Amino acid sequence: MSKSAAGPRKLRSQAWFGKQDRDGFVHRAWMKNQGYPDDLFDGRPIIGICNTWSEFTPCNGHFRELADFVKRGVWEAGGFPLEFPVTSLGETQLRPTAMLFRNLVAMDVEESIRANPMDGVVLLMGCDKTTPALLMGAASCDLPTIGLSGGPMLNGKFRGRDIGSGTDVWKMSEQVRAGELSGEDFAAAESCMNRSKGHCQTMGTASTMACMVEALGVSLPENAAIPAVDARRNRLAQLTGRRIVEMVKEDLSLSKVMTREAFENAIKVNAAIGGSTNAVIHLIAIARRLGVPLTLEDWDRIGAGVPCLVNLQPTGRYLMEEFYYAGGLPAVLRELGDFLHRDLPTVNGRMLWENVREAECFDREVIATAAAPLRKESGIAVLRGNLAPDGAIIKPSAATPALMRHRGRAVVFESIEDFHARIDDPDLDIDETCVMVLKHCGPRGYPGMAEVGNMPLPPKILKRGITDMVRISDARMSGTAYGTVVLHTSPEAAAGGPLALVREGDMIELDVAARRLHLDVSDAELARRRAAWVAPPSPARGWIKLYVDHVEQAHLGADLDFLAGGSGAEVARESH
Ligand code: FES
Repeated sequence: MSKSAAGPRKLRSQAWFGKQDRDGFVHRAWMKNQGYPDDLFDGRPIIGICNTWSEFTPCNGHFRELADFVKRGVWEAGGFPLEFPVTSLGETQLRPTAMLFRNLVAMDVEESIRANPMDGVVLLMGCDKTTPALLMGAASCDLPTIGLSGGPMLNGKFRGRDIGSGTDVWKMSEQVRAGELSGEDFAAAESCMNRSKGHCQTMGTASTMACMVEALGVSLPENAAIPAVDARRNRLAQLTGRRIVEMVKEDLSLSKVMTREAFENAIKVNAAIGGSTNAVIHLIAIARRLGVPLTLEDWDRIGAGVPCLVNLQPTGRYLMEEFYYAGGLPAVLRELGDFLHRDLPTVNGRMLWENVREAECFDREVIATAAAPLRKESGIAVLRGNLAPDGAIIKPSAATPALMRHRGRAVVFESIEDFHARIDDPDLDIDETCVMVLKHCGPRGYPGMAEVGNMPLPPKILKRGITDMVRISDARMSGTAYGTVVLHTSPEAAAGGPLALVREGDMIELDVAARRLHLDVSDAELARRRAAWVAPPSPARGWIKLYVDHVEQAHLGADLDFLAGGSGAEVARESH
């Protein structure tokens, strides 16, 4: 409880438990059916542990155990831990896509925090969307909040070699389609890829977002990389529990940590780790909850010149286990040195640079130096042009250098179903110089902006040993994927963006160095096509209707339009 001239600050939870009247009776009495004694309601910090555990979310399947370690720490520090569930998003199970529900979970988190008697929050995050959803919801309440990631799985092991979750699925499935790998071998790999608790161990979206959490200063150091099954993950959970109690006393709220400068650091770290394109959307959405200005251009401008240091799949070789043993994110932050804002507060009460200035790297194969980086340029390139007036993105480090400047004939798929129906057809009129265009996979169109932008290549091209082509869509792609893939084209086709107007045979020009994405069709012809365009119908009911009617475009973070900003944590009215 921070002290002021008026004395110690009264804890928020005391508005429930500190009342000596009928309402206070109700709030305390029902909690006591769980066996809690009187003195737990005496004004000690009450810590909510926001748990995304679900057996349908295998990456977060160990979170009840993790929560127990957080509770240990909270008890030790004199707090009172109370765990609460929120909707859990399992990337590999949810249809049509987990991203459709990110904003729903963010609402669930926000309202659960605000409506319940808690003074501080621990966010248990793991599988891709669980991290941004929890940060978005918590940001709109702005209590003292600390993040704890579940940690990556151990390396996949298949017939004597390491395989990475996601990345090797895409690789091996292309090998099957090219006739280079048998169906039996592909099936055999299925039990070897994900062999421990934890989230994807590639530098996919989950690992990227865990790194973002640490770079933003919202978790304790080392949070991003400790494997889920390493005892040090449980130790970190316990320390996290201890620390949140102190944070409540210091009134160290989320907005004091997640500043504009912290987001700038996160963008630079994303470049240094070769992070997922999904971080672009998620960080913009989180920043907008806090009222921090952050744009697509910031990603290009701030990330420019930051070297790629981390040699992890999908753009590199290794996996998160090696990353941790090599020194993890603290070693990367130290190496980035002057690229970063150093004097930024973090949740452990120390400045960012204080946390990492002594960090060591133990394997330069995995974490390179800034002087001899893996790649001099990394980050995200933001493209514009008449095909993407509000922007589109490409991850140059995952693309083929020879395709970064390319002019090709469009082969157009009107939907993902159209794509699946025709891509394996030997008569499909396509060669490697063509540009594959996929429509109606954006926020409104899919709906939910699925990870289908890295369209598999036609078998007849794969069989000739060609593994990359230019692909353009309004979709996202998995953080574990790669290729010369233009994503997040905004506005999307379903919102009447120019992507909707592309026709088979149109010529498209991509020039990443010039940041240009151009549809070589006259304005007059585009106007004719636009006049004939018909908007898709809105869904009839339910969450999907609310989502489609209110989701913003990708360049704004794909949040719902009425969720930007926050409402604080106060609730004046009683429940009875
Ligand atoms: Fe959960 Fe990859 S599927 S992190």
